[in-house]
Amino acid sequence: MSLSEHAATSARRHIAVVGLGSIGGVIAGTLHAAGRHEVTACARRGIERLIVERPDRTIEARPRVLTDAASADIHDWVLLCTKAQDTASSAPWLQRLCGHGTRVAVLQNGIGHVERLAPFVGPATIVPTIVYYNGERLAPDRVRYRRASDYDFAVSDDANGHAFVELLEGTGMQILVSPDFKTMAWRKLLLNAVANPITALTLQRQGVFRGEDMGALVLSALEEAAAVARADGARVADDEASKLRAMLTTFPPDAGTSMYFDRLAGRRSEVDALTGAVVAAGERHQIATPLCRLLLTLMRAADAGPIPGLMENVK
Ligand SMILES: NC(=O)c1ccc[n+]([C@@H]2O[C@H](COP(=O)([O-])OP(=O)(O)OC[C@H]3O[C@@H](n4cnc5c(N)ncnc54)[C@H](OP(=O)(O)O)[C@@H]3O)[C@@H](O)[C@H]2O)c1
Repeated sequence: MSLSEHAATSARRHIAVVGLGSIGGVIAGTLHAAGRHEVTACARRGIERLIVERPDRTIEARPRVLTDAASADIHDWVLLCTKAQDTASSAPWLQRLCGHGTRVAVLQNGIGHVERLAPFVGPATIVPTIVYYNGERLAPDRVRYRRASDYDFAVSDDANGHAFVELLEGTGMQILVSPDFKTMAWRKLLLNAVANPITALTLQRQGVFRGEDMGALVLSALEEAAAVARADGARVADDEASKLRAMLTTFPPDAGTSMYFDRLAGRRSEVDALTGAVVAAGERHQIATPLCRLLLTLMRAADAGPIPGLMENVK
């Protein structure tokens, strides 16, 4: 790389992080602490500081925080860190933050990031990512980061993916640049689409997958989803479903899923962007998905129902 190229890639960027929850809190605090860029957090309520608890150290960051989209202006990068179902409600932020040169990195689970974001970002460029790290919001101004696999992110092996890698230089975040982003996104989706609604519907943590009956159901649903993934162009191996099913029994039995926690908290879940994405892709490719459809329908009904465990629900 020539000196001028290096100067161009190491420029200070203005980054807006929209959604200061588990994933957004970690990335906003980590980027701000790395000190290479100007970080603005776009949140629904203000905070004085942001604490990121990591296994190796605790970071205290003080990024600029905006709570009113009207006060935002065009940024070089937007990192969208809301849940998928909150994409539309983030539109006022995206409208103010996005210009011709803006890149919008989507830090959301699922597939179809470009299609989901396109109506909201005007002329900006959409950069899909897969998030692998585990984030947990402990308080409005405190999050916990845990590495959950070898990589924190995966991006496509293209100019936008490389720009994302450059943006995160100096943060210590590990990023996989993949020539087959679609397959990686589908692999993560398979597990989320099947496992998450089962924990949310049964109100049980990962231990629920250890029973034999449940294992058989999970395997059938995963095989159904894997067939859709292959039809959609993902290179999912023949034994992917059985490997994922086995993997589920190795997770700590007391670990929850985001859908499980959303249901407990009475928040609408991401089921449409996850299980719904499998069902929709099945329809596009004319592959029947009865088990995924069942999980989707039950989960949508659960989302619309009362919050479990609240005494006022018991009449
Ligand atoms: N958590 C993980 O370990 C993990 C791992 C991999 C992938 N993911 C994916 O990452 C994405 C984000 O998940 P998360 O766990 O970070 O969710 P989260 O903890 O619920 O955080 C989402 C944040 O978005 C904010 N938000 C929602 N609508 C907004 C709006 N209109 N304007 C501004 N802020 C808004 C929420 O604000 P309020 O606080 O005001 O509600 C919340 O702070 C999801 O797609 C998830 O599946 C998560």
